Amino acid sequence: MLRAEEIKAAKGKLGVLLVGLGAVSTTFVAGVEAIRNGKAQAIGSVSQMATIRLGKRTENRSPLIKDFVPLANLDDIEFLAWDIFAEDAYEAALKAGVLEKTQIDSLEQELRSLKPHKAVFSTDYVKKLDGTHVKKADSKWDLAQQLMDDIRKFAEEKQISRMVMAWAASTEVYLEADPVHWTIDSFEQAMKDNHPAIAPSMIYAYASLKLGIPFVNGAPNLNLEIPALRELAVINKVPVGGKDFKTGQTLMKTIIAPGLKARMIGVNGWFSTNILGNRDGEVLDDPESFKTKEVSKLSVLESILEQDKYPELYEDLYHKVRINYYPPRGDNKESWDNIDIVGWLGYPMQIKINFLCRDSILAAPVLLDLVLFIDLAQRCEMFGVQEWLSFFWKSPMTAPGLQPENDLFIQQTKLKNTLRYMMKEDMITHLGLEYYDQM
Ligand SMILES: NC(=O)c1ccc[n+]([C@@H]2O[C@H](COP(=O)([O-])OP(=O)(O)OC[C@H]3O[C@@H](n4cnc5c(N)ncnc54)[C@H](O)[C@@H]3O)[C@@H](O)[C@H]2O)c1
Repeated sequence: MLRAEEIKAAKGKLGVLLVGLGAVSTTFVAGVEAIRNGKAQAIGSVSQMATIRLGKRTENRSPLIKDFVPLANLDDIEFLAWDIFAEDAYEAALKAGVLEKTQIDSLEQELRSLKPHKAVFSTDYVKKLDGTHVKKADSKWDLAQQLMDDIRKFAEEKQISRMVMAWAASTEVYLEADPVHWTIDSFEQAMKDNHPAIAPSMIYAYASLKLGIPFVNGAPNLNLEIPALRELAVINKVPVGGKDFKTGQTLMKTIIAPGLKARMIGVNGWFSTNILGNRDGEVLDDPESFKTKEVSKLSVLESILEQDKYPELYEDLYHKVRINYYPPRGDNKESWDNIDIVGWLGYPMQIKINFLCRDSILAAPVLLDLVLFIDLAQRCEMFGVQEWLSFFWKSPMTAPGLQPENDLFIQQTKLKNTLRYMMKEDMITHLGLEYYDQM
């Protein structure tokens, strides 16, 4: 890992390759355009708005993260996208219904210039969608080559120096790991044989890693965790991260559950239900896509509360997650959580949370931070799964055999301490040594 002055500079343009030009991607692109035109602030973005304390409290050093580590400048970002619909980002943003029309109109020129390439797609993996803007080829292997051609042409035409690919396309159906995923050779052969265990998202990830481009998976579907792609990331020295952007109800869970556990308060029931009406909600209305999401959402509480360590407090936890497709709400999701908690002498209490959330408004800054931090990781020569970015994931990937860390506050400490380490600053322990030293 390169540190401080050794880190390669963020020189030249950063290409952001977006798989899927739907609600999250268009909200992200519109936001970046609005920020660089001086029309908006990067609210929700840690890389742009958060500060980082350095040294002792008495030193009063708390620069913005973006002034502390050498991140790419937003002005240097260029976009490329793929989608199964041919609409440009302006039309796609209108259709997504996240942003107000007047705001989208004010960015029309910039958004119109982003026209998606044909996608790698099959209804076998997303049952509720069907598009016409789809690549054709004899094999999945050939489809991967076509993606790589798109990327190379883009890099040449726009004079791009570095790239990051992000999966912000629909959640694919639940897939189990298959023996063809075990090695790069078996994976490549399976692509040539059009094996059903190779989902479109894996073809994009393969193309990205093959070209040495960092890849982040914003959806919960099986992808980077298969051994073949993990191995490719390591061999080609590419940083990767996943999965499923941490937004909405799960963000709330990872804020509240660590607090209850810190105070040793028991939890014996957590019922979560949602209504959402965007295309993501429609896709998740299919039980096979929902299963993928459910697995990602369910694991969060169990890992924060550590039932095995605290059986008296959490052994009886009944955790249920429901997502209901309800078109009138569009992207403005509403979620309800009922939490049954247990206090001193076993007395029950309840917490009710009703979150009127805008999912893509929470997801867009997460996508921006991931793009900027994973590009930084590559310039530090870090590769493989970037656990220090767990903060941004609903279901963080880890090195094989390790438990993920889901507690938002431990994740934040890990993120900031990694940045301090990167820049050769001391880790912060919050011990207050300067105070004890006087005693
Ligand atoms: N909205 C959020 O806050 C949020 C949070 C966490 C995770 N996610 C995940 O992020 C992804 C995107 O969410 P969204 O709200 O933008 O959904 P969306 O339905 O608005 O957009 C997804 C887009 O992907 C396109 N698509 C589907 N398969 C594709 C393929 N193989 N190649 C290229 N394009 C393809 C669709 O046509 C659509 O335009 C989903 O998987 C969702 O579960 C979203």
